[in-house]
Amino acid sequence: MARRKAFAMKHAAVFGNRGGGGGGGAKNGNLSVFVFVFTVLLFVTFMYNEDIKSLAEFPFSSSARAAARSTDPVHDGDHRFTEMSIEAAASVDKKEMSIEAAASVDEKEKEKEKEKERVTVHVAEGCDLFEGRWVYDEVNYPVYREGECEFLTEQVTCMRNGRRDDAYQKWRWQPRDCDLPRFDARVLLERLRGKRLMFVGDSLNRNQWESMVCLVQSVIPPGKKSLVKYVNDGPLNVFHAEEYNATVEFYWAPFLVESNSDDPKVHSIQHRIIMPGSIAKHAANWKGVDYLVFNTYIWWLNTLQVKVLRGSFDKGSTEYDEIERPTAYKKVLKTWAKWVERNVDPKETMVFFMSMSPNHITSEAWDNPTGIKCAMETLPVTNRTTPLDVGTDWRLFTVADEVIRSMKKVPVHFVNITALSELRKDAHTSVHTLRQGKLLTAEQQADPATYADCIHWCLPGLPDIWNEFLFARIVSSPRRK
Ligand SMILES: *[C@@H]1O[C@H](CO)[C@@H](O)[C@H](O)[C@H]1NC(C)=O
Ligand SMILES: *[C@@H]1O[C@H](CO)[C@@H](O)[C@H](O)[C@H]1NC(C)=O
Ligand SMILES: *[C@@H]1O[C@H](CO)[C@@H](O)[C@H](O)[C@H]1NC(C)=O
Repeated sequence: MARRKAFAMKHAAVFGNRGGGGGGGAKNGNLSVFVFVFTVLLFVTFMYNEDIKSLAEFPFSSSARAAARSTDPVHDGDHRFTEMSIEAAASVDKKEMSIEAAASVDEKEKEKEKEKERVTVHVAEGCDLFEGRWVYDEVNYPVYREGECEFLTEQVTCMRNGRRDDAYQKWRWQPRDCDLPRFDARVLLERLRGKRLMFVGDSLNRNQWESMVCLVQSVIPPGKKSLVKYVNDGPLNVFHAEEYNATVEFYWAPFLVESNSDDPKVHSIQHRIIMPGSIAKHAANWKGVDYLVFNTYIWWLNTLQVKVLRGSFDKGSTEYDEIERPTAYKKVLKTWAKWVERNVDPKETMVFFMSMSPNHITSEAWDNPTGIKCAMETLPVTNRTTPLDVGTDWRLFTVADEVIRSMKKVPVHFVNITALSELRKDAHTSVHTLRQGKLLTAEQQADPATYADCIHWCLPGLPDIWNEFLFARIVSSPRRK
């Protein structure tokens, strides 16, 4: 463990600051030189990503585990949705129905709508939704069109930003042993009536939040919906569906616990430092929320070791220890789990934890040695005979899985999107995105080695599928107060 002086807390990463990503302390000489050189290389390569200015990738997955994960998705355009089983939760009054027959078509239509909204969607109990394959389905996908969602940010509107192929929008996930219900905005909004759904985490969770906003907003007429960003200049963003008195919110907390990276707008910190035991300040904003969706991953990849503050930012502490990534991750998730168990009433609140969203930086991983990161990839990974290793840190997956399993009082739904998303090398924003708030120029787009973002995802796209998992769990659960 090395003990160092921390750099200024809100020190903005200057693009000339290239030596910052390295490891700490005196270590085995050769290894640390290798790690340093490798890190500097990757640092330079990735620092142009919108949110992650310095991101080092190291392969960690064990081949055996990866082998167990490998699936064999086939391009299967003929597959259709099996009708999802819907059951009216409330019995319909027959008399009212006959009186209604005389009513205008409009009113009948409304009544039908209402009936639909009373439904419960069934998802086969015990079915592993995450074991399955990608199926090309241009009949049912995408669920919404890029041009139809006014709330999409420029970061994710890949077609508008110049992407030509749109097949990436048309893949649906087919679980092996059951079906995923098709997303139905009205059914979800009915569940959310008078309630709050909040995503808490990093920019990947924001990506998913944007997707959720677009998924629900299509059925809300203009003037009855609004989006407020950075409420009171803080970390909270709120989409409001007026007629439902429902909100879909995003709360910025990239490490879940307190860190020096908590400013919702200024993310470019050179040395990220966390306080693994401090969650109360953020968590005060999560209390009483009806549906909580957490994640934390991408910023953990910055360095091999994580800087952990000694003391408190409030007290002006600057000294830190550097500890192994999985150890620090476990400390943080234990803090989070403790908060959940103490503050969440499982009868009122449903809690989800999204497993890691993978990156696609090394095209050799999917046997495309002439590829440049995820640029130009137009198809998911298919027909693999060898395991896929895109460099995901599976150690953190194991930590999250274990911590969540150990929770006794509050059941947390672990949304296992990692392996299935690893197949989606085609779905990233790549060069069709922003850098430092500006669209990439033609020259920058022509240089994917430097500028491609292979971390975030286009919308419509993969995060819509992640939200279908949430949808399935939310609308198939017993109704809450
Ligand atoms: C997560 O899903 C993958 C398939 O997508 C599966 O191989 C793996 O066992 C699952 N892990 C857990 C902890 O459920
Ligand atoms: C609207 O929803 C909030 C919770 O999000 C609740 O506290 C409030 O009472 C609701 N208002 C009405 C008028 O139902
Ligand atoms: C992938 O496998 C399917 C059958 O499993 C086959 O029809 C298809 O042609 C294969 N695709 C490629 C690119 O090998």
